[in-house]
Amino acid sequence: APVWVVVTAAGSGNRLGAKQPKALVSLAGRTLLEHALQRVSLVQNLAGVVVTIPAVSLPDFAPTKPACSIPVFFVEGGASRQASVFAGLQAVAQYAPLDALVLVHDAARCLMPTEVFDRVASRVAETGHATIAALPVVDTIKQVSQQNPQQVAGTVDRNQLRIVQTPQGFVLDQILQLHEQAQSQGDSESTAATDDAGLAETAGQPVEIVDGASEGFKITTPTDLKYAQFLVNTK
Ligand code: CTP
Ligand code: MG
Repeated sequence: APVWVVVTAAGSGNRLGAKQPKALVSLAGRTLLEHALQRVSLVQNLAGVVVTIPAVSLPDFAPTKPACSIPVFFVEGGASRQASVFAGLQAVAQYAPLDALVLVHDAARCLMPTEVFDRVASRVAETGHATIAALPVVDTIKQVSQQNPQQVAGTVDRNQLRIVQTPQGFVLDQILQLHEQAQSQGDSESTAATDDAGLAETAGQPVEIVDGASEGFKITTPTDLKYAQFLVNTK
């Protein structure tokens, strides 16, 4: 099946604290979005890409459109990440068949290698299930007391925990329906799922896990950007 990628880049990047939207911040001479799109452009069976961008920022984003043979569309995102993904999916649905595979990916994870996208897409194709890229937890994780968060309530078995990344993959038809349901239930900051696979979970659908990559960490703070710069420059 054809693969479409929705790249979310409509956030403002408050925690990074740059003057421009996070996706337009420069990392070793190219924007975060350009780094992400370069890796996305090499995905197997890629049929198209939809990038969600902040409102009224098309003139700033247009120069980041890659010169490749695959169609890349820029659409306005929404107030929340979930709303942005929904806008991206509606754009995909204008061009792609309902059995297309869709990979949802954060531009902020701009160094995520192409092979992880391929891994996610293969698993969706095999199983028809929502699929996430994830990593094992290396730190010891403690649960804190509900009454007093200064006190330890227990140690969680980290072998049963995973750190969740993007890309997350779905069949177009499936993820559209999940987002339509979520939208109709209202997408407030407190009730919104923090990732797309969370919508599948809530609906009682199975979610598959494949190996992510440590380079695919999300650039959130100025320290993350420095680390990304180090990784790119020492490659
Ligand atoms: N995103 C989006 N639309 C929104 C909010 C976020 O498309 N309304 C995207 C961001 O551009 C980013 C990804 O979702 O690629 C993950 O969000 P995050 O890392 O939180 O980015 P920002 O929301 O931009 O950063 P911050 O929360 O620090 O403001
Ligand atoms: Mg955010």
